[in-house]
Amino acid sequence: MIDRIYRTAVLSVAGNKTVEELVRTRGWSIAQRFVAGDELADAVRAVEELEREGVYGILDLLGEMVTSEEEANTFAEKILAILDALEGKPYPKYVSIKLSQIGQDLPSPQGENLGMVNARRILARARQIGAFVRLDMEDHPRTDQTLAEFRTLVGEFGAQTVGTVLQSYLYRTEGDLASLADLAPNLRIVKGAYLEPESVAMTNKVDVDAAYRRLVYAHLKAGHPTAIATHDEHIIDDVKRFVLAHGIARSQFEFQMLYGIRRDLQRQLAREGYTVRAYIPYGRDWYAYFSRRIAERPANVMFVLRGMLKG
Ligand code: FDA
Repeated sequence: MIDRIYRTAVLSVAGNKTVEELVRTRGWSIAQRFVAGDELADAVRAVEELEREGVYGILDLLGEMVTSEEEANTFAEKILAILDALEGKPYPKYVSIKLSQIGQDLPSPQGENLGMVNARRILARARQIGAFVRLDMEDHPRTDQTLAEFRTLVGEFGAQTVGTVLQSYLYRTEGDLASLADLAPNLRIVKGAYLEPESVAMTNKVDVDAAYRRLVYAHLKAGHPTAIATHDEHIIDDVKRFVLAHGIARSQFEFQMLYGIRRDLQRQLAREGYTVRAYIPYGRDWYAYFSRRIAERPANVMFVLRGMLKG
């Protein structure tokens, strides 16, 4: 409950335009704890640095919920440029995108959904160069649409090219997992980062964590590729025991964490021989992502306040 009150407070304050203006103008140096830089080159540098430590990267161009066709197409072009930059690289090529970033809410000039038009361009290019594209999961009003679009895209491009994300805090998610099973989907399981109403999302952390374990175990037992995206050491330890007890191959799952969070744990798991990937965001549109990271952990507010006072 305390977690929820804290998250609600931070995300509500973050939604205030004056606070946004202040943090946007003074907070960039603080945001860099969680964001690799402004430009693609910064993010590629971060990928290569982590790769030397045995941790793979997931590139994420920051930006979401765009409201104009021009902006959506610009994001799509920039994501295509990431794939161009990754072509020929010796390490696994992996990007995360948000459908709302490339036009999920907009029609294309031909009357189709612009997000799908752009997703197809991105996935076609990804398939060509052997890259994997993860469709991040956003707030709950988008869940139905994102899952339906994911189903269509898996049908067209295959589960080896595209995956999506399920959030354990939503009451609906165990049903969603069951309904996707026929696709043998590659799923990232997260707890969920958005401010959601009590009618759709669990308010108690213990329940969210229990649901998280159930989702991961069910997906692993079904034999499908599973990205366990959490920094929660208790869950990670339980998953390690679960896979041992059930004879699940290490090639079927991986651990994923966010850039700038628990790098020690990322390295340690990599040294233990698990596949570990870090989600590496970059770009100028960092405010929403940064606010969600602050809302996840009370200690982060002090980190921001200290940084703002210094800056
Ligand atoms: P939890 O919040 O219980 O934290 C466990 C421990 O991790 C904390 O005690 C602390 O040590 C550390 N920690 C967690 N967050 C921290 C932070 N911000 N700063 C410092 N330490 C922190 N969400 C979503 O809704 N849609 C999505 O598509 C994704 N995608 C995604 C990709 C990847 C690779 C990851 C790791 C996470 C996401 N998320 C996400 C975010 C996710 O929903 C969740 O908000 C965060 O992972 C934090 O939850 P934990 O599972 O880490 O556990």
